[in-house]
Amino acid sequence: MAKLFFLLSGENPTMPASEALAILETEGHPYSTVEVMTQVLRLNADAESVKVVPVRSAFTRLCALELFVSNANYVDILKVAEETDFKNVLKPGESFVVRINRIKTFADQAVNTMELEIKLGRQILKHIPEAKVNLKNPDKTFIGIITDEKLVFGLKLTEISSKTFSERRPRKKPFFHPSAMPAKLARCMINFAHAKTEKTVLDPFCGTGSTLIEAAYIGCNVLGVDAAKRMIVGCHKNLRFFNINADGLFLADARKLPFFKVDCMVTDPPYGRSASTLKSTTRELVNDVLLSAYNLLPVGHRICIASPKTLNIKAIGVSIGFKHVESHFAYVHRTLTREIAVFEKEST
Ligand SMILES: C[S@@+](CC[C@H](N)C(=O)[O-])C[C@H]1O[C@@H](n2cnc3c(N)ncnc32)[C@H](O)[C@@H]1O
Repeated sequence: MAKLFFLLSGENPTMPASEALAILETEGHPYSTVEVMTQVLRLNADAESVKVVPVRSAFTRLCALELFVSNANYVDILKVAEETDFKNVLKPGESFVVRINRIKTFADQAVNTMELEIKLGRQILKHIPEAKVNLKNPDKTFIGIITDEKLVFGLKLTEISSKTFSERRPRKKPFFHPSAMPAKLARCMINFAHAKTEKTVLDPFCGTGSTLIEAAYIGCNVLGVDAAKRMIVGCHKNLRFFNINADGLFLADARKLPFFKVDCMVTDPPYGRSASTLKSTTRELVNDVLLSAYNLLPVGHRICIASPKTLNIKAIGVSIGFKHVESHFAYVHRTLTREIAVFEKEST
């Protein structure tokens, strides 16, 4: 097991850390959480896990090997840095750079990030005088994150660009609808659902296909259902644009799903604002689709479902027999906050 930390997006307070952990669980990498800080997740985990998180995550920015954690003031940081063994991670002759990121305004009175980069660079050179500083193209990058009045410091292993998600945002797709879900949120929900490569993900309210596209990008087989022909045609167009072959796109009612078994489900039912509920209420649709999910999912498998926070979906899922794993909340606008709920089918 290695001491690792992940730098997380600040787009939501709780989803990014849970997403990273859900990825490790899906891929079968054992871990223990050391600390969940503001935009930083500290773990003891299999070193291989830093390979899977960058491939799947929507909300992880960077993975690093942790070298030390200190209170965010110069005296404490330099003392701990002096006691740290850098020889395992930086060889004589190698070049390096130190980069410090500050989350929000943590320790902004105590520490100047540029000054700290220089001081820590000098400290590392004291340990390994034959190493060289290279600001532009270093062999190794040391990264420090100032958060929650602490400095978390380590060796950068992978940096993750969110550029590919912006290439798949709703407005970039050939078929656009205002109810479409942002690509990052769709990917995060796929991860919450423990969707595994080559297993089947069903979205029974697939709309423009955001969840299907994100699931296909990580190697899942995808099935979509929508009751509106226009959406099925548009979804098909979007999938083709990204060279995705769905296992099936069905014009059907999500309350009467034409399947026997699926591995997991990820969905965003209509709330009656931008997407029509087709004469049902959102509550009825959510209740009925959770009932169908309960019949379709094997024990230990999951559905991740979005709904308006006011619906109290947790109570609906639990009354059907699901275990409620977690919920996260995403503000959309003044009258809508989405609840992203994760349910698992337990053995009876
Ligand atoms: C919120 S949208 C889904 C958006 C989708 N996640 C996306 O990113 O494009 C809800 C979808 O449910 C569909 N719908 C409404 N009632 C339905 C029903 N009874 N069965 C299946 N689909 C239904 C609507 O046509 C709409 O496309």
